[in-house]
Amino acid sequence: MTYEEIQKKLLDDDGRPCLTVPVVLFLKIILDKTMTVLETGSGRSTIWFARQVKEVISFESQEKWHHGVMERLEKEGLNNVIIHYDPDYSTNSFPKFEGEFDVVFLDGADGHGDRVAVMKAGHKFVKPGGYLIVDDSHRSVYEEGIRVLRGLGWHRIDFWSYGYKSEALKLCLVWRRPK
Ligand SMILES: C[S@@+](CC[C@H](N)C(=O)[O-])C[C@H]1O[C@@H](n2cnc3c(N)ncnc32)[C@H](O)[C@@H]1O
Repeated sequence: MTYEEIQKKLLDDDGRPCLTVPVVLFLKIILDKTMTVLETGSGRSTIWFARQVKEVISFESQEKWHHGVMERLEKEGLNNVIIHYDPDYSTNSFPKFEGEFDVVFLDGADGHGDRVAVMKAGHKFVKPGGYLIVDDSHRSVYEEGIRVLRGLGWHRIDFWSYGYKSEALKLCLVWRRPK
């Protein structure tokens, strides 16, 4: 069986978020319907989270992409998601946002400065005992953000795995805020 076939078998029932198998399995263990998720970068993950938790707040920088995700949510009858569309959310609305969440998932604002800005701000929104998840942490351009997160002294889990239909290894970092 190929890795792709394993991914399909494991994830198809829930739709497939753009995350690797170990990360999805980890999330399936920790998530429940009482939880809230804050996300940067909407997409398949938004739909998938909306099915697993009580509420999802997402930040999105691309107008067309935002419309596409909204359409998909409506089609699926998912009404527990708010998407804030802002082309400059990483340095504008996201750092000024307020609230505490069980999971903060950073997967948008791909450019170096943008992703580092959301990494520096994102940990403020994690509840005690909650999780901060940073996808694509293998990218060296995000090192500055990882250094800041390491400085918090939170427990860290490294999920290395192959991406969907990809032969390159990816790192998704999970940080847990102490209770
Ligand atoms: C890597 S995507 C991931 C989105 C989401 N977290 C998921 O798992 O599906 C991050 C961002 O890239 C942008 N994006 C994704 N695919 C794109 C495409 N084909 N063309 C243009 N922008 C894209 C969107 O702004 C999106 O928020």
